[in-house]
Amino acid sequence: MFKILQFFSRRLRYRLSYRLLVAILICSSFFTLLITAFQLYFDYQNNIEVIDANIDLVEQSYLDAITASVYHIDYSQLKILLLGVVSLQDIEYVHVVDQSDPDNFSLEVGNPKAPKDIIRKYPLEITNEFNQLVRFGSMTVTASLEGVYNRLFEKTMVILVSNATKTFPASLCILLIIQWLITRHLQTMADYADGLNLDKLEKRLKLKRRKRKPKNMDELDTVVNSINMLGIRLNNEFLERKLTNEMIIQNEKMKSLGELAAGIAHEINNPNNFILLNSVILKDSWDRIMPILERYHAEAGDFNVNGIPFSDLRNHIPELFKGILEGGEKIKRIVRGMKEYSYPEDAAKRTAVSIKRVLESTLVLLDNDLKKKTENLDVRFERDLFAVWGNFQRLEQVFINLLQNACDALTNPKQHIIIETLNDTENDNVVISIKDNGTGIKKEHLNRIEEPFFTTKRKNGGTGLGLFICSGIIEEHEGTMTFDSAPGKGTTVTITLPMMKDENGES
Ligand SMILES: Nc1ncnc2c1ncn2[C@@H]1O[C@H](COP(=O)(O)OP(=O)(O)OP(=O)(O)O)[C@@H](O)[C@H]1O
Ligand SMILES: [Mg+2]
Repeated sequence: MFKILQFFSRRLRYRLSYRLLVAILICSSFFTLLITAFQLYFDYQNNIEVIDANIDLVEQSYLDAITASVYHIDYSQLKILLLGVVSLQDIEYVHVVDQSDPDNFSLEVGNPKAPKDIIRKYPLEITNEFNQLVRFGSMTVTASLEGVYNRLFEKTMVILVSNATKTFPASLCILLIIQWLITRHLQTMADYADGLNLDKLEKRLKLKRRKRKPKNMDELDTVVNSINMLGIRLNNEFLERKLTNEMIIQNEKMKSLGELAAGIAHEINNPNNFILLNSVILKDSWDRIMPILERYHAEAGDFNVNGIPFSDLRNHIPELFKGILEGGEKIKRIVRGMKEYSYPEDAAKRTAVSIKRVLESTLVLLDNDLKKKTENLDVRFERDLFAVWGNFQRLEQVFINLLQNACDALTNPKQHIIIETLNDTENDNVVISIKDNGTGIKKEHLNRIEEPFFTTKRKNGGTGLGLFICSGIIEEHEGTMTFDSAPGKGTTVTITLPMMKDENGES
């Protein structure tokens, strides 16, 4: 019994269940009482009718016999008749008086103290030989409603007890059904809502219900769907705002870095100009001094310059000059890129540009590097490639940076670089892809490579500004630049630039 109570109390631990139970009990008790009251009222009416009918029965069936018995002074017969009368339901007392008797004979049967709720009095009369109606006595019949009340009380008790024994288990069953079908799911929804926060907006609400998907959704399915849709909408909104915020922060960062870069570029530009100019003069001077030194070497034999024998040094010096000039040129390009990134309005004017020509020029510039790095350079130009509206030098700078990155990624000359161009007429773009099968880019680096100063080649002189500058130039040209890369497999950079339809750069 205790276990059963415990089972129910566990099921009914939710307040809604208690309130439902109380509501069901109140409603069912109210209707039980109402129906009982109606039933009692009709039963009461019936009982009164039965009493009336019994009294009528006394008049119809007994009155003549009783009159005769009194008239013929047959009192023993009279008593039998009166006992018959009081045996009728609810007739408690009957009293007969013979007024013709000198002693005023009277006979009473039944309980004289019983409540006299209905009293009917009948004259005892006889028709004499002159056909006159002679009254010689009377009979009083008394009925009590006590029995009626007792019977109605018993009936009420039976109705109430039977209803209670039926209502209580039925209410509990209804309650358990409601708890199983609804309340526990409400609790799950509340738990879900409690555990919801901005990081968990992607989590979906799922109720433990039927396993098979129903044909028609019910109200709970609709609520669950609405809550999940709300979660999806909130999540999208949140992501959108997060992205916007990140973009604002990134733009700010880029802007200030751009300004910094412009400052640095300015500071580097002057000394670099000295390096370039002076090294040209120095190289020229060296070229002129060389025959004199050669002559001296032939006559006097080998000699040391700064601890290095001249015979070695003369071979290295041109290389050193070349390195200085190339390094200076690279610095110049980067500085120009940094300046143009920061002040794009300073960039040279735009014209119709043939991407094929830009790439060809780039390949000439990087000829040495490419030859050193790969034996497999494959260039595939689309025939009649559309022109783009832009700046030749700046686009050339993009391809120089991208091809240098591709070269840097190759670890063995057997690896390839594939350059491909095509017209994407569906989207009105010219598409250029540069594919290498070199080291590839780590997943965690992929979204950082366009950041200024992000480089994995710091030790080899990488500045991390190459892609930063490229992205600025491509953006300026209203194009896109995307990276597809996997470590160990290689990288494909895809650039799209809006095509010029009316003017073909080839022509
Ligand atoms: N094709 C590629 N293969 C592998 N890694 C690449 C490739 N392209 C770019 N990266 C990665 O992106 C980083 C940033 O490139 P970015 O061109 O901006 O700078 P960098 O090449 O390191 O230096 P800089 O171009 O200034 O000499 C590189 O350091 C490298 O890790
Ligand atoms: Mg680079």
